[in-house]
Amino acid sequence: MEAEPVLTVSELHAGYGDLEILRGIDLAVEPGVTTVIGPNGAGKSTLLKAIFGMARVTEGSVRLGGIELRRLSNRQLVNIGLAFVPQGRCNFPRMSVHENLEMAAFTLSMQEARTSISSLYERFPLLAEKRSQFAGELSGGQQQVLEMAMALVTSPRVLLIDEPSLGLAPLTLISVLDEVQAISGQGVTVLMVEQNARQALARSNWGVVLDLGRKALEGPGPGMLSDPRLAELYLGGAATQDVGKA
Ligand SMILES: Nc1ncnc2c1ncn2[C@@H]1O[C@H](COP(=O)(O)OP(=O)(O)O)[C@@H](O)[C@H]1O
Ligand SMILES: [Mg+2]
Repeated sequence: MEAEPVLTVSELHAGYGDLEILRGIDLAVEPGVTTVIGPNGAGKSTLLKAIFGMARVTEGSVRLGGIELRRLSNRQLVNIGLAFVPQGRCNFPRMSVHENLEMAAFTLSMQEARTSISSLYERFPLLAEKRSQFAGELSGGQQQVLEMAMALVTSPRVLLIDEPSLGLAPLTLISVLDEVQAISGQGVTVLMVEQNARQALARSNWGVVLDLGRKALEGPGPGMLSDPRLAELYLGGAATQDVGKA
């Protein structure tokens, strides 16, 4: 680990009501892409939700640039530079692409929103082209790009993104993961959950395996692919096929 962590998770315990899912997670998220993989039910989504204040944190801390995030409101989290793209499509399908971006910009002033949206149109020409179309009419991959653009409207330092490739065809999946990598190349630190371990780790500088609410393994992203412990952890897990195939 060379760089300073941007986001630091320490001894995090979190869950829902009395149900503890995360049982002491430590994570130092550095600039670039950090990918979290692991079997279904491991607690990957819960980790992102806990960081974003959407799961109940019972112990431990989450810090962004030295600021403790526990007990901050969603709006405060956004204001200090955190953005979250939850699992699944979460745009407003019966609103235009442009209106979706405006909705995402609601914490900004009118002027800030206009500037931010126009720079996103330059960054994602596809969205500029489709600005008047209903979000629900875009393809799955295009909608995922829209979700990312919506999260970027507030110019976050850290982007949390949960399974951006879910349900996408193989080629679309690759272009969406390339887009995630490009976003990190522009200085946004990314913490991503992905089922496509091989494709995701190849584009990550750090990889983390969660299992049963604990960190089972971590290491440099691409290097992890050849780590025999990865295959071992996945044996019997839902993602065995994915790790095994190209
Ligand atoms: N809102 C919720 N209320 C109660 N239990 C939940 C909730 N969301 C997820 N869980 C449980 O938490 C565990 C971890 O879920 P999740 O973090 O979504 O796993 P993953 O994303 O790794 O597949 C699962 O057992 C799941 O059933
Ligand atoms: Mg999940």
